This record gives sequence, C-alpha cells and structure tokens, in this order.
Amino acid sequence: MPAYDESRLHVVDHPLVQHKLSILRDKNTSTKDFRELVTELAIFEGYEALRDLPLEDVEIETPLEKMVAHKIAGKKIAIIPILRAGLGMVDGILSLVPSARVGHVGMYRDEETHEPVQYYCKFPPAIEERTCLIVDPMLATGGSLTAAIKFLRDAGVKDIRALTLVSCPEGVKAVLDYDPDVRLYTCVVDRQLNENAYILPGLGDAGDRIYGTK
Ligand code: PRP
Ligand code: URA
Repeated sequence: MPAYDESRLHVVDHPLVQHKLSILRDKNTSTKDFRELVTELAIFEGYEALRDLPLEDVEIETPLEKMVAHKIAGKKIAIIPILRAGLGMVDGILSLVPSARVGHVGMYRDEETHEPVQYYCKFPPAIEERTCLIVDPMLATGGSLTAAIKFLRDAGVKDIRALTLVSCPEGVKAVLDYDPDVRLYTCVVDRQLNENAYILPGLGDAGDRIYGTK
C-alpha cells in the first residue's frame, strides 16, 4: 500500500478509546450498547478534532475577583453525517458543540459495485463559512467519504474534517489522495478490506448494528 500524507491523519488512540472500541467490535455487543459506544467514541474524536477552535478573551468575575477568561470565539460549525450510520455520531458531537448545525448526506453502497449511491443532500445555510465535520463510523473503500467531501467542496467549504471510528489503509489513502486539505480523524486503521469491501477485522456493518436491522 503506497504511503499517504500522515500529517493529515490523526489516530485517536487514547486507552479509553481503545477499550470502548474493543467492546464495539465484539459481535456479542447489544444494539443498545453499540449505539451508546458510538456516541461516546464520537465525543472523544470530536474533542480531538476541535482542539484548535479559536478562543476569545472575556471578562468574568469569580467569587473572589475579576479575571480575563477564554471562551470559544463563536466559530461556525456544521456536523455532516453520512446516512445512515453517520447519524449515530451526531449526538456525541452535539454534546460538545450544542449550537452546531447539522447537514445530511444520504448514501448507501451498491452491494455489487461497492460504489456510493446518493439519495439525499441538504446543508445548513452559509455552509461555505463553516468548519464542517463529516461523520461516519466506517471508512472502507473511501467512496462514500470522498463523495461527501466533493459535495462540500462544490458548495465552497474550505475547512473539512472527517471523523470515522474504524478505517483501513485503502480508504485512508483514497481520501487523503482525493483531497489535499482534508483532515482525517479515526480511532484505528485496521488491516485491510475483504473481497466484499468490508473492513478486517472491523466490526461488521455499522448501520445494521446501530439500528438493529440485521
Ligand atoms: C457504510 C458506512 C459508510 C460506507 C463506507 O454505509 O457507514 O458510509 O459504508 O464504505 P466505503 O468507504 O466503501 O464507501 P452503508 O453504505 O452500509 O450504508 P448505511 O449507513 O445506510 O448502512
Ligand atoms: N461499511 C460498514 O458498515 N462496514 C464495513 O466494514 C465496510 C463498510
């Protein structure tokens, strides 16, 4: 597998993340627990992906004296889940940035070709001014994520950060090669894709496990 630009790949491998990821992968984990873990992992990833949010000085008064403190400088953020599975990460990120807007990209992979098929796309106003966090638990061939990046770039978005939970080398390379500026956050880069373009060892079909559809 040819090398990719590692400076734009951020692996969030904190021990708490690794622990939760192991439970997430386990085939015996219930739908309820799976959904809760996706939310918790999205919080950890969101925390890292928003590490450079600009701050502004504000004067406040503690019970003892006045001081200059720091607050988020009103940065405009949009969360863009790739339907369906990406929806599972939205609440976690919203718990960090409750005022973020949410846009949706509806796509599913054709079972034969593994190519993404788009069925919905709706972005909040002034999307081009926002920092956009695309969320999707799985990065396999990269087809879905690169298509979502294209929609946002076509809409004029400059700052795109993609957050996935489980990735593989093929998908990471496809995304970083496709877009020279996107920053990619993931909890792990797994070994490889299988012949059906599923990630090994992976966790199976994320959408089915979040929604209990299989
Ligand atoms: C899964 C996953 C990603 C995509 C990854 O969605 O949530 O969107 O596959 O594969 P890729 O990198 O090869 O494009 P799926 O198509 O199964 O749809 P779903 O979320 O509706 O289950
Ligand atoms: N989509 C999933 O949900 N899982 C994979 O392993 C690959 C694509």
